[in-house]
Amino acid sequence: MPSRTSQEQFDRQAAEYNAQWNAWSGGSLEWLIEHAHCRPSHKWLDVATGAGFTAVAFAPLVAEVTGLDVSAAMLREARERARAAGLANLVFQTGAAESLPFPAEGFDGVVCRLAAHHFLSVPKFVAEAYRVLRPGGRLLAADSAEPDDAPEVDAWHNHVEVLRDGSHVRNYTPAEWRGFVTGAGFVLDEVDQVRESVPITMRAWLKKGGCRGEAAAEVRRLFLEAPSEVARTFSITAMPDGDISFQWVRIALSAHKPA
Ligand SMILES: C[S@@+](CC[C@H](N)C(=O)[O-])C[C@H]1O[C@@H](n2cnc3c(N)ncnc32)[C@H](O)[C@@H]1O
Repeated sequence: MPSRTSQEQFDRQAAEYNAQWNAWSGGSLEWLIEHAHCRPSHKWLDVATGAGFTAVAFAPLVAEVTGLDVSAAMLREARERARAAGLANLVFQTGAAESLPFPAEGFDGVVCRLAAHHFLSVPKFVAEAYRVLRPGGRLLAADSAEPDDAPEVDAWHNHVEVLRDGSHVRNYTPAEWRGFVTGAGFVLDEVDQVRESVPITMRAWLKKGGCRGEAAAEVRRLFLEAPSEVARTFSITAMPDGDISFQWVRIALSAHKPA
């Protein structure tokens, strides 16, 4: 079990999920939109919508987007983002990914970006996505991931994530994701690795997670002393001003429910 719930973490840190955070993950958003095959009649569900970046990007392409999240503070940010964008076809609702508060077969698409690593059960989320999708409906997901067959990288990355944010559960490998999606009955259409174009910088990343004091010092030490395979995988680079830049590996996938 995580040491802090996502609700606690994101109610506390909601204001940090701003344009800078979204710039670190713009590539995954582009990938999802490209693979969504949105139509003007579609109803999409954005699970763990957070501050609403994905929901707001999908809304102009479809009839309606529902954004769901466990954090009331994140949903306030999302509503404000939709209002500022002048969009009226978004609804935001409180609820958990593992128990979606919707009837069966009501959505044409379900999207989930950069959130599944917080879920208590990704298999439950994927089974719920299957239930609420109409036959032929699409599941699109993107998240930070670990390379297959790289246990040292996997252990190091998940350890620093938990130190920084106690609501982190696990970044999964592509092999684990394939198992979750096909195990729920979906047909997997595409799985890609996405490299975001804007590197993350450590001071800002720690601040967004609310990580301070000894935990922050330990995370910094782990980056500076990262084994060479880890440093190479995440392009960890010491910067002249004492900050550290890095890039997480992101997985993006599209799947559909058989018609
Ligand atoms: C990084 S933010 C998501 C970003 C958003 N999907 C986007 O694309 O801009 C992670 C979000 O996941 C939400 N979350 C974590 N666990 C959840 C769960 N089990 N069910 C629903 N939301 C959850 C958190 O409250 C937080 O708002």
